[in-house]
Amino acid sequence: MRVLITGGAGFIGSNIAFALQERYPDAKIYVLDNFSSGHFKNLIGFRGEVITGDIRDRELWEYLRRNFAFDVIFHEAAITDTTVEDQKLMMETNADSFRDLLDSALEWNAKVIYASSAGVYGNTEPPMREEEGLEPENIYGFSKLMMDRIAMDYMERFPELRIVGFRYFNVYGPRESYKGKSASMIYQLAVKMMHGQRPRIFKWGEQKRDFVYIEDVVKANLLALEKDVSGIFNIATGRARSFNEIIEILNRELGTNLETEYFDCPYDFYQEFTQADISKASKELGYEPEYSLEEGIREYLKHIKA
Ligand SMILES: NC(=O)c1ccc[n+]([C@@H]2O[C@H](COP(=O)([O-])OP(=O)(O)OC[C@H]3O[C@@H](n4cnc5c(N)ncnc54)[C@H](O)[C@@H]3O)[C@@H](O)[C@H]2O)c1
Repeated sequence: MRVLITGGAGFIGSNIAFALQERYPDAKIYVLDNFSSGHFKNLIGFRGEVITGDIRDRELWEYLRRNFAFDVIFHEAAITDTTVEDQKLMMETNADSFRDLLDSALEWNAKVIYASSAGVYGNTEPPMREEEGLEPENIYGFSKLMMDRIAMDYMERFPELRIVGFRYFNVYGPRESYKGKSASMIYQLAVKMMHGQRPRIFKWGEQKRDFVYIEDVVKANLLALEKDVSGIFNIATGRARSFNEIIEILNRELGTNLETEYFDCPYDFYQEFTQADISKASKELGYEPEYSLEEGIREYLKHIKA
């Protein structure tokens, strides 16, 4: 099996790379990345190769089509900082380049498993279902919605091509530290609190998110690889938890009693409440999340401490 992982030096992509090389030791795995938010240290121990390049570069896709052939593409590369406001850059990187990728997949007859986002739902009413509430509030969410539209168009025109889109909710876990301020709040709060500093969050910490541990996200990707399906799926736990709850769990796990400091949210747009309906992924992919927030944080803290 020949595998291409775009964004493989990043958080989710590198975790997929390690899971694949363990489960399929004979697979030939290539990471394609421009190292804008990824880091080589995420790939220490990775036995495959790296192609350094930008997914916006059409010549790169031509070069890949001429010189490589892949059986499957995990597409994770994107501008992942949701506060970036440059609309052209966001659209070119996240959405337009996807057409070149899908055209290459057509030529190779490769399965495509790509990252969309819960950002497509904006502040619509939870629980979020795949067909409803597609009202992104920022250009990041809009670019992901456009990726889904492009994917649906290819699914319709080329039904033999297998395309799976994952609307990840809030993913946390090892290898996200190089995302800096875009790393999960779980990571940022854990590091602060481990240094004895008080956690700081937006007033009043009751905003809720569907937090999903990286192991469950990797599992979803492996299921998509193994199953003969196409479609767009929410990948989350199906449960929303608040930032105050994260701090409570961290205080308990770290044996600290640090008091929360609240401050005003500086953004015009902020998702107040996300919670996925994961019944479609459960029914069509057999996806069942294994980690509750408590279990995910406990597992993650072992890695952060190490
Ligand atoms: N982490 C989450 O909570 C979350 C939630 C929803 C969706 N997603 C999506 O999952 C995917 C992976 O996100 P992540 O959390 O691993 O973020 P990440 O920033 O760690 O990974 C993105 C990777 O893509 C690379 N990249 C960026 N622009 C590129 C370009 N033009 N050409 C080549 N490589 C480029 C970066 O260097 C990085 O390695 C993204 O598509 C993201 O939008 C993530």
